Amino acid sequence: MKATALIRKQHRNIDALLRTLARGGTLDDLRRLADVLAAHALMEEESVYPVVRERREDVILKALESHAVARHELERLMRGLPGEPAFHARARTLRALVKQHAGEEEAVLLPRLEKALQRQEQTALGTLLEKRFQELVAVGHDEVLARLATLDAEEEPIELEPLEDDDDEDGELLIEHAPPEWRASQA
Ligand SMILES: [Fe+2]
Repeated sequence: MKATALIRKQHRNIDALLRTLARGGTLDDLRRLADVLAAHALMEEESVYPVVRERREDVILKALESHAVARHELERLMRGLPGEPAFHARARTLRALVKQHAGEEEAVLLPRLEKALQRQEQTALGTLLEKRFQELVAVGHDEVLARLATLDAEEEPIELEPLEDDDDEDGELLIEHAPPEWRASQA
């Protein structure tokens, strides 16, 4: 199966599990969702995002951010039980997050992936992804979520420009837009 077809199939499967949990479901459904969602996210971060990252850093940074938010919401979901009202509210919230993220991946990232790879490479990557996904599902969500958290922490911190005392153009701009009372008080 082509890599992009496999990713789309996994998105549908995750959405079906979340739909079940948004309305009802069992602890087994929750465990299955956690295993599958965590495995899918790590598989993408290890083997899909690097292929696109060099050309579209902005797309990948946004995708990683969505993964971090979804991981947080999944962890909240796992603190509850099916049947509790808050549990189903969390399942609905996570479903909306994942739906939006999957939609963005399918509209922006997957076409980039198709462009970056030859047809044979697509199929080879699909085979590799399927194997890795099954391995990660077998490892289980506890370990996979911990690995995702480590990767998140290892992301390069944003470098801030040092503040300079003189040549404070932004400061002047702020003063220009400040309310007249404030400007009067500074005179
Ligand atoms: Fe993703």
